[in-house]
Amino acid sequence: MKKLLVFNFKMAPASLAEAKKLFLIFQKYSAQAKKKQIIVIPPYVYLSEAAQMLKNYCDWGAQDVFWFNRHSATGEISPQMLKSLGAEYVIVGHSERREYFQETDEVVNLKIKACLANHLAPILCVGEKERKNKESASSFRIKNAIFSQLNYALRGVILKSSADLVVAYEPLWAIGTERAEDPLEAAEVMALIRFWFARRFSEKIARGMRIIYGGSVNGQNVSAFLSTPHINGVLVGRAGANRAELTKFLSKITNI
Ligand code: PGA
Repeated sequence: MKKLLVFNFKMAPASLAEAKKLFLIFQKYSAQAKKKQIIVIPPYVYLSEAAQMLKNYCDWGAQDVFWFNRHSATGEISPQMLKSLGAEYVIVGHSERREYFQETDEVVNLKIKACLANHLAPILCVGEKERKNKESASSFRIKNAIFSQLNYALRGVILKSSADLVVAYEPLWAIGTERAEDPLEAAEVMALIRFWFARRFSEKIARGMRIIYGGSVNGQNVSAFLSTPHINGVLVGRAGANRAELTKFLSKITNI
């Protein structure tokens, strides 16, 4: 299984000109990163440019989607629109959307179903809010929090293959904090997530499911995550939307 590198630009960069410069960096490094699968997730307004500039180099997708194709929904973007542009992936359930836009588990579930019905692979984000002092990563409390998010998000969902979905384990306390989780502890939670998929779907789906880690991944710590067994890749936020950081990051991972 190729390691997955997902770059969520969030609400950056501030201009199309700067976005194009980031896309050029991906063009430059994609050939050297052949053993990895790169997925670039820019803001909506840069997606047409991403479609043009990245199509021969790497995959790309969107940060969000609406859950119907036909509906009067001012300001929204439908799954069909994304698919027609060539998108293959959509981030669903990111903690920033859950927090700032009150996105509920029900909405996450609707978006997952809409993605699958339109042949877009959701990158489903799950993770606990806090880690208590000396609490183990696989504690009963954390397991419950994550299993409950998975139960809601995937309620009534049928997966034909493991490739239909990606799961990003993103502990909220590690996002945007420079306090990445210890890779071995992250791998413990990921093992629980894989176990959940085996119970809910099948051993086969669970084995092939790509489960990646997100939260303060950067050029310094990425090797530790990618070399830890059971971690199938990383979801990178801030470090991917800054030219200097991105160059450092990509030159590092091409050697791993
Ligand atoms: P970060 O963000 O890498 O900036 O912590 C990760 C994310 O929000 O997915």
